[in-house]
This record gives sequence, C-alpha cells and structure tokens, in this order.
Amino acid sequence: MPVCRRKVTVIGAGNVGSTAAQRIAEAGVADVYLVDIVEGLPQGKALDLTESAPLQHHDQWIYGSNDYTDTTESDVIVVTAGLARQPGMARDDLLLKNAGIVRDVVTKAVHYSPDSILVIVTNPVDAMVHVALEASGFPRERVIGMAGVLDSARFRTFIAQDLGVSSSDVSAFVLGGHGDLMVPLPRYSTVAGIPLPDLMKPERIEALVQRTRDGGGEIVELLKSGSAFYAPASSVLHMVDSILSDRKRVLPCAVLLCGEYEIDDLVVGVPVVLGAAGVERIIEVALTADEQNALRASSLSVKSLVDTMARTRA
Ligand SMILES: NC(=O)c1ccc[n+]([C@@H]2O[C@H](COP(=O)([O-])OP(=O)(O)OC[C@H]3O[C@@H](n4cnc5c(N)ncnc54)[C@H](O)[C@@H]3O)[C@@H](O)[C@H]2O)c1
Repeated sequence: MPVCRRKVTVIGAGNVGSTAAQRIAEAGVADVYLVDIVEGLPQGKALDLTESAPLQHHDQWIYGSNDYTDTTESDVIVVTAGLARQPGMARDDLLLKNAGIVRDVVTKAVHYSPDSILVIVTNPVDAMVHVALEASGFPRERVIGMAGVLDSARFRTFIAQDLGVSSSDVSAFVLGGHGDLMVPLPRYSTVAGIPLPDLMKPERIEALVQRTRDGGGEIVELLKSGSAFYAPASSVLHMVDSILSDRKRVLPCAVLLCGEYEIDDLVVGVPVVLGAAGVERIIEVALTADEQNALRASSLSVKSLVDTMARTRA
C-alpha cells in the first residue's frame, strides 16, 4: 500500500465523518484530521483509528482536534458537520440549522487551507454547496457536493440484487438533486454494457428507481436514530481518492451549473470528471424532453431552498 502524506480534514467526527476518516486512512489515500465541536470526540476517535493502523496494515496518521489551526494546508476538506435526519424528518428540515453550521466551519477551514478542495456532505447537500461556495469564495471547480455517487451506488445495488448479478458489473447514471427529485436515467444505466431497459421491464425499473429515491429514508426508518453512513463514507472515499490521485473518474457530483443542462446559477448533480483540480469537466449528455423536465423540477427544488436561505438571512 503506498505511503503518502497528503492531508484531508474531515469536519464532523460523527458517523459519516469518522467512517470516512477510517476509509480514507485504510485505503492509504491520506492522513486525516478529524475536527468536531465536541471536545474529546475527534481526539478519541482519531486515537482509536490510529491504534488500528498496525492491524489494518496502513501507515496513515489520524489526528483529532477542536482547533482549525491544526488543519492548515489540507489538500481536501470534507464537511460532514451538522445534524442528521431523524425518523419522520425531511432532509429540508435540516436546512437552516445546517446552513449556519456549514457557513461557520467552511469559513474557519478555508482560512487555513485556501488552496483546498471542498467536498460537502452535510444535508440538504445541494443547498449546502451554495452555502460553502459563498462562505469560501472558491471557484465552482473546488466546491463539490457528495450525493450522486451514493445515489448511483444504491441504484446499482438494487439492480444487481434484482438481476442476481455482481454490482461491479452494474453502472448506473443519476442526475439531479439528492433525494426525492433525483433523476435516475435507466437508458444510460447498464449491466456489463447492456442497457438496463433491455434486461428489465419498465415497471420493475420504476420500482427500483423509487427505492433508490427513498434509499436514505429506508435506512433512517430501520435505524430509528441517525441515518446511513457506511455507503456515504465509501462515496466520500471515492471522490477524495479521485481528486488526490488525479484519477479523472467520471462521477455524479453536485456542482454549480452555469448554463450546462440549460440550468444557471444552481447546484445540481451531474456527471463530472474529478481530478487534481477538482471538477475538471462537466459532461453533458442529450436528454429527452421528459428527462430535461425532471432535471429542471429537481433544480427548482434546490432553488426553493436557496431562496429560503436568502429570505432568512435578509
Ligand atoms: N450527502 C449525502 O448523501 C449524505 C449522506 C449521509 C449523511 N449526510 C449528512 O451528513 C451529515 C452528518 O451525518 P452523520 O450521520 O455523520 O451525523 P452525526 O450526528 O453522527 O455527526 C455529525 C457531527 O457533526 C458535529 N458538529 C455539529 N456542529 C458542528 C460544528 N459547528 N463544528 C464541528 N462539528 C460539528 C457533531 O458534533 C457530530 O459529531 C448530516 O447532515 C447528514 O444528513 C449526507
């Protein structure tokens, strides 16, 4: 496993943050600085994770802190700080509380790491990317929301389970905002290169699409307290690794659109090339009228959150 001293700060040492720290360190991708507002929490989790290094055969260090000076010159900053959804709570209920938290932590973190790339996880994630863009003043290439990687992993899982095939052979294409207005594109989703509509009836595909849309809520209902974190943490690892290893993977990410897909000045999930510079390219595919309408509806739901935040701050 390669040893490297690249530095990732993960803000929020809760379920997603600490599991993402574990995944990043165990993959040998970077040293990790865990930061949380709760004293002792990031320090305790970091020490526990570090003590597992000899057994997990990696050489990364994991540090815990409540002080942003320790995060100086991070290459990537992952923001998971905030409140998680509880049963019966919509992602959007979190909007205003989490906007305040994200604004605060991003402002502090970018002061010490002005050249970093931000990966935003806190929900509602599309709106939180808007907050992070404003708080950091970074260009859109360096402020990226995690949602599509998770949504497409869920869609791939459900397709693989349904067909009884390896999820490694399933590739799924998801556009739009995280959550109810996500826009999965079955005709661009394939099993070993075979388009999904050639393998499954439309009703079956629609059922799996709906389960994917409800994927976060399904886990919240089962857990009773807290929300998904294993697959979200794996999604963070994929994005961080593609950036730090300059892999130029094509991943669905929430980015600010400036006219792409006929959408302007709104953060929406689209396929991008993710490399050392962050979002290196936005890939535009031809959409049918229905798909374009679904994407527009998804972007309008993000707009309503952005408008709510603007009204509340006024
Ligand atoms: N984008 C996605 O697809 C996706 C997936 C899963 C979870 N999430 C979101 O990620 C966030 C974290 O989820 P979780 O399950 O880890 O929650 P969690 O409650 O386990 O952890 C959140 C952590 O943030 C910390 N925190 C709160 N305010 C802070 C501040 N001002 N500074 C530093 N730390 C602060 C808390 O102390 C806590 O440790 C939630 O908003 C959740 O909805 C998003």
